[in-house]
Amino acid sequence: MNARHLSEIINKIIQPAKGILAADESLATITKRFESIRLEPTEENRRAYRELLFTTPGLSQYISGIILFEESLQQKTTSGLSFVQCLEQQDIVPGIKVDKGLIPLVNVENDKITQGLDGLTDRVAAYKSQGAKFAKWRAVFQVSPKPSSLAIKTNANSLGMYAAICQHHAIVPIVEPEILIDGSHTLAECAAITEEVLRSVFKALAKHNVLLEYIVLKPSMVLPGKTAVTQNSISEIAQATIGVFRRTVPAAVPSINFLSGGQSPEQATAILNAIHQLSNQPWNLSFSYGRALQDPCLKIWEGKTENNLKAQQALLKRARLNSAAMLGSYDSSQEV
Ligand code: 13P
Repeated sequence: MNARHLSEIINKIIQPAKGILAADESLATITKRFESIRLEPTEENRRAYRELLFTTPGLSQYISGIILFEESLQQKTTSGLSFVQCLEQQDIVPGIKVDKGLIPLVNVENDKITQGLDGLTDRVAAYKSQGAKFAKWRAVFQVSPKPSSLAIKTNANSLGMYAAICQHHAIVPIVEPEILIDGSHTLAECAAITEEVLRSVFKALAKHNVLLEYIVLKPSMVLPGKTAVTQNSISEIAQATIGVFRRTVPAAVPSINFLSGGQSPEQATAILNAIHQLSNQPWNLSFSYGRALQDPCLKIWEGKTENNLKAQQALLKRARLNSAAMLGSYDSSQEV
């Protein structure tokens, strides 16, 4: 096992008041994001957008790692620097999404499983030689209807196998079980499914002999469904989230970096802040947001170079506010 290397990477990722930027949208997802600003999803537009994100002045004050999509590992800035070098120069750790997306779990209605285990060992070795230091694998579960136990076990087992392969190659695995926000379920229903999923994930990680000290858990917060009749308060959500994690996530896990999962940027920041106002927890509690960091930036950018500076300022603002949330010192008046 590569404990020394893994520990060095973990220490660079886990820094006070810093989080991870998820910029690893697959081709299908970035196409959807670009549609929202009516921008052609060409390779050059994707490159230009990622260059804008990665060269935001001051980003490393708040961001310790960035998750890339495969394509970005080979791309360069206009000045000819590879994205990997560009991040390393700023002391930002480059990571890579290694799963190959979702497919239906055949013969089981509604459930999806994550594919990408075939050839994963070779791909992880190749990504490592291209400079990636950590990886991410996302599994998804819906709350209503409840996921089948087959879907929970299959996804958990894939996460375990993926994490073991990564650690074998001295790559830190981000373990991402996402409970979807879609639907009208209650906070309590989300808490129950999150608890069941996390128990199964940690059982699988143990079965695969994954060293918990060298993973990052990237879960969703415990939330009522987007269309639920009762939308709970920020403080109720923070308490439910921490309650579930205290029951299911071993203290050996060094860091929990939440995904934003379709919440507004402001809500994702406010909940992280509320989580930090609860008393001491055994793990570093941080963020690994995609949309909650990028959405305002993308909207301002619109694919136009003349908007670059303002778009970067919008990204920096969200990163700064989430950093403040990690200190429990965010309040909504800082939004203006
Ligand atoms: P969101 O924060 O937009 O949910 O994205 C995080 C992510 O990495 C999803 O896999």
